[in-house]
Amino acid sequence: MADDLETFIKALPKAELHVHLEGCLTPQLAETLAKRNGMPLPDSVKKASTAEGFAFHDLTSFLAVYYPAMEVLQTAEDFADLAMDYLTKAHEQNVRYVELFFDPQAHTSRGVPFPTVVNGYRNGLLQAQRELGISAGLIMCFLRDMSVEFAMATLMDALPYKDVIIGVGLDSDERGNPPRKFAKVFGRARQEGFLLTMHCDIDQQDSVKHIRQAVHDIGVDRIDHGTNIVEDAELVELVRQKAIGLTCCPVSNSVVTSDFKGKEILQLLRQGVRVTLNSDDPAYFRGYVNENIFKVAWETDVTRKELVQFQRNAFAVSWLSSWRRDRYLEELDVYAKEKGAC
Ligand code: ADE
Ligand code: ZN
Repeated sequence: MADDLETFIKALPKAELHVHLEGCLTPQLAETLAKRNGMPLPDSVKKASTAEGFAFHDLTSFLAVYYPAMEVLQTAEDFADLAMDYLTKAHEQNVRYVELFFDPQAHTSRGVPFPTVVNGYRNGLLQAQRELGISAGLIMCFLRDMSVEFAMATLMDALPYKDVIIGVGLDSDERGNPPRKFAKVFGRARQEGFLLTMHCDIDQQDSVKHIRQAVHDIGVDRIDHGTNIVEDAELVELVRQKAIGLTCCPVSNSVVTSDFKGKEILQLLRQGVRVTLNSDDPAYFRGYVNENIFKVAWETDVTRKELVQFQRNAFAVSWLSSWRRDRYLEELDVYAKEKGAC
């Protein structure tokens, strides 16, 4: 029985909407890039191959490992290889479409030019489309623990790249960095035609307040994580009515908090909220999208029909054009029908 369900999940056509490109940097790829660039492997990556493994237990300690590891990313080729490495793995898991976060300020702040980052990632996306048939777009995240001025300058840098950057997001350390801090930047991004999302991480000091700000003050199209919304029934109803997607990441939750929030994610799904299942930083949390779905499947009473619904939500709240979205939804419906899961 368990094997059957595993096979069902593996073959399910999927969309992934919450995965950080820099969070796809495996220790193996980091080592290859460090060698190619003639530099030492960052200490935080060296630790990954020891018995101790990566040393983090919450968002702050994770970020302290995550940013130093990125130093191995230097050239456009490095960024292209990183994108291709992740998209190859996603393709193997029957992911059809991905919206990928990237953190340009983590690179420009250490001297890597903005065009090197975006042109490199674009090349990786084009190669994956050409060779594997997997489609992807980029979501540019502002680092919320940096200044509003730096975020606005980064938004200006992105304007010539609207062909590949489809939206903007907000990530990094949430403590003391509420959505409202970036209202002006997100307002300008909206004017420029970008779609809007932002992280409201799990069990933060002001999680619900931040979700409220994201919805009311920023007018986001989606929220990344946002699972703490279960604490406020009115807000749940509003998000349901507005069809705002929540991109949840069970394995990541289990690493940065004491709970994977499976119960809450399923509760939201059953209330009609457009929740989706995603991997976040798969190279660090050691789970790509299938492993995230397995976790929900093994540790909750989710049904196959509901597993299909998570994917229906993902395509529905994706930023695909309507005709492409409908094509993927049709494929999903055919699969569900074939497996008796509709
Ligand atoms: N950057 C990469 N992963 C992140 C996460 N889960 N939360 C906030 N910022 C991040
Ligand atoms: Zn994230």
